[in-house]
Amino acid sequence: MENPFTHPLPLRLLCFFCCITLFLAFTDGEVEDATIKIMQDFSGYPASEPASFDILTSVSSLSVDDRSLQTQIDELALFSDAPAPSVTRVLYTDKDVSARRYIKNLMKLAGLSIREDAVGNIFGQWDGHETQLAGVATGSHIDAIPYSGKFDGVVGVLGAIEAINVLKRSGFKPKRSLEVVMFTSEEPTRFGISCLGSRLMAGSEALEKALQQTVDSQNVSFLDASRSAGYMRDHDDLSSVRMKKGSYSAFVELHIEQGPILEAEGVSIGIVTAIAAPASIKVDFEGNGGHAGAVLMPYRNDAGLAAAELALAVEEHVLETGSIDTVGTVGVIDLHPRAINSIPSKSHLEIDTRDIDEMRRNSVVEKIHQSAVAIAKKRSVILSGFEIVNQDPPALADETIIRAMEAASQQLNLTHRLMISRAYHDSLFMARVSPMGMIFIPCYKGYSHKPEEYASAEDIANGIKVLALTLAKLSLY
Ligand code: GLV
Ligand code: MN
Ligand code: MN
Repeated sequence: MENPFTHPLPLRLLCFFCCITLFLAFTDGEVEDATIKIMQDFSGYPASEPASFDILTSVSSLSVDDRSLQTQIDELALFSDAPAPSVTRVLYTDKDVSARRYIKNLMKLAGLSIREDAVGNIFGQWDGHETQLAGVATGSHIDAIPYSGKFDGVVGVLGAIEAINVLKRSGFKPKRSLEVVMFTSEEPTRFGISCLGSRLMAGSEALEKALQQTVDSQNVSFLDASRSAGYMRDHDDLSSVRMKKGSYSAFVELHIEQGPILEAEGVSIGIVTAIAAPASIKVDFEGNGGHAGAVLMPYRNDAGLAAAELALAVEEHVLETGSIDTVGTVGVIDLHPRAINSIPSKSHLEIDTRDIDEMRRNSVVEKIHQSAVAIAKKRSVILSGFEIVNQDPPALADETIIRAMEAASQQLNLTHRLMISRAYHDSLFMARVSPMGMIFIPCYKGYSHKPEEYASAEDIANGIKVLALTLAKLSLY
């Protein structure tokens, strides 16, 4: 018998839906369910949405405008407080505010309706034809740590807007609305709080409270800084940023891998199954200080040496877990008064430790605390502060979204693999608002958080296509 599925698409569709319709007419509900499932498995889209069949089966209509995207990446990188190729874009600075304007303009050009919340999370929505349903969201951040690169986060914001453009150009019509989100301050640079915007969206009352008092290293309060950027106006309240669980039916973030695996294995797409659990700690020691020549060694209590010893203890506690998945970094050590001929009277450390195993990560945090106490005692300094700024649990990606991302990669003929994310992302917190998934693309040598960070136009385009197709699928569920 001739195979109807080798006929041209319209004929194939006609045959397929006639068979199904006839079949349904003569069967009961149970068989009907099974049939719908077969239809869905066959087509990779929900059986009730024939209007959007084309894009989900004929992926050749998905085309990314590489040229414009590269220009946007380069232009966005110009909003920086460090000279190129470095990018420094810190929350609520003039450069951040200009970059936000740039993003809102792109959202407008994409025909999205824009809104901003009290801390400057920016949302651009494309209405689906069933606006009463929870929408599907995608996005990332554009803030950049000091002297970093131009792809971290940016690919997930510009890429999300381009994914919407890709879908619009293909003629696709979403059922659930699609929303691009640009999150405020994924990086902890200014106020020491990572994923500030998404953490508030996920409903962190502790953070809402803490932000009333939080100041940056120049003693500028969070509230003043956000007001100067045009947010937290008089009537605004941090609790208004909260989003109810289920506000979105799905959230998907596109991001560079920030690790070497995809490039080394020659795989185009990473599908994230879990995000490792990060913790950050601030520690302060105080001693008597004094003259670098006059105070003899037995009479010193050097806060700087206490910090140095604790930094080595962090490394020791991480390594003694015996697990390659446990990491620890002391990225900040400040000494006071910071003069070559003065014994440090104060030291301040900021410690980042992460693991895919939350219990193991917690036990490292506990050991760091014990070491801080012991070092203070041994060196006769005061442990004047030990603050666990955050100790977040890991997040798991949602199975349905993982399957949609896998199906999208397969349809696009892109090699893919499952992997965990060792970096944290706004997705860690969005997982508390809705089912979450992440798409990784390769980056040069896995470099990130430095100017050499790079992802090729081809890899970015691949990621955007997978994102577009995944959003399309999820919007029809
Ligand atoms: C995010 O930038 C991280 O530090 O993982
Ligand atoms: Mn980053
Ligand atoms: Mn990032």
